[in-house]
Amino acid sequence: MLFKQQAWLRQKLLVLGSLAVGSLLYLVARVGSLDRLQPICPIEGRFGARGQAEFPLRALQFKRGLLHEFRKGNSSKEQVHLHDLVQQLPKAIIIGVRKGGTRALLEMLNLHPAVVKASQEIHFFDNDENYAKGIEWYRKKMPFSYPQQITIEKSPAYFITEEVPERIYKMNSSIKLLIIVREPTTRAISDYTQVLEGKERKNKTYYKFEKLAIDPNTCEVNTKYKAVRTSIYTKHLERWLKYFPIEQFHIVDGDRLITEPLPELQLVEKFLNLPPRISQYNLYFNATRGFYCLRFNIIFNKCLAGSKGRIHPEVDPSVITKLRKFFHPFNQKFYQITGRTLNWP
Ligand code: A3P
Repeated sequence: MLFKQQAWLRQKLLVLGSLAVGSLLYLVARVGSLDRLQPICPIEGRFGARGQAEFPLRALQFKRGLLHEFRKGNSSKEQVHLHDLVQQLPKAIIIGVRKGGTRALLEMLNLHPAVVKASQEIHFFDNDENYAKGIEWYRKKMPFSYPQQITIEKSPAYFITEEVPERIYKMNSSIKLLIIVREPTTRAISDYTQVLEGKERKNKTYYKFEKLAIDPNTCEVNTKYKAVRTSIYTKHLERWLKYFPIEQFHIVDGDRLITEPLPELQLVEKFLNLPPRISQYNLYFNATRGFYCLRFNIIFNKCLAGSKGRIHPEVDPSVITKLRKFFHPFNQKFYQITGRTLNWP
């Protein structure tokens, strides 16, 4: 009886094993064919001459965290190229704005085979302790990439921190700077929502948004409230313009990145002098999340974490109107300086 059961179990395991191996072989074959189908990605402009550089799927594989597989010796072909990998300083930085959609922008740009993202916010330029560790410390925080690729990092605190423009200028005066903005009142509420969630997690009570955003003594907008100050984009940008010409900045419309990401990403590709490689295939709308998610290939896709896309608390409409009226002149100036009109109310 026992022998019969063992034989039956062995047979089952054999069938399951064959199925698993079959599926694996199928997937490998599909990825392989995608690899071959993938057109060569030439880099142009400052990041290399058109047609000289190639970005085969190995770049994507690397970005999907398969590097350690190569290291383990699973792919002798890829191992040959390992010595090419370097940790490069970023050629572009997403400097802000907090709650503008900085994570979505970074992750979406990372779909491009010529882009490698620094996964963590490094806070090198805004944190004195980190800055004191020196530029080599910063470079070592960067992911490995091939020389033809560009590294991008994002730390939204850079945009509002006094010392940062000068520090970045000292590292690279021709760096490209990306700023993703949302309608200022919505951004301020999003900012508040994040803080509120943190307080709730610690079982702490917090003020209502209205109480923070409006000064109870004057009934005017409270410009001391950080979430309000951060949304006065033009004030912060003016500090940056003391160091960098406006041509080195690109403004991303964060509201449009939510509803229609591809055209926004195509504008960034252009700004970074990258060949257009992000396509509609890479972005699919996930009705459950209510946001676009990312598709790298037939196997790898992902949505952003649940902390992105929180439900905002309801805010008194008269406070919203007051805030919008307050931001209006700053927005006009922002459009004028950047040359990008965003038609905020
Ligand atoms: P909300 O949480 O207010 O909706 P950041 O990464 O700078 O903190 O920005 C967070 C914001 O990114 C979210 O704000 C969300 O609206 C926006 N966002 C843009 N595209 C997104 C996407 N594809 N998935 C999730 N959030 C996205």
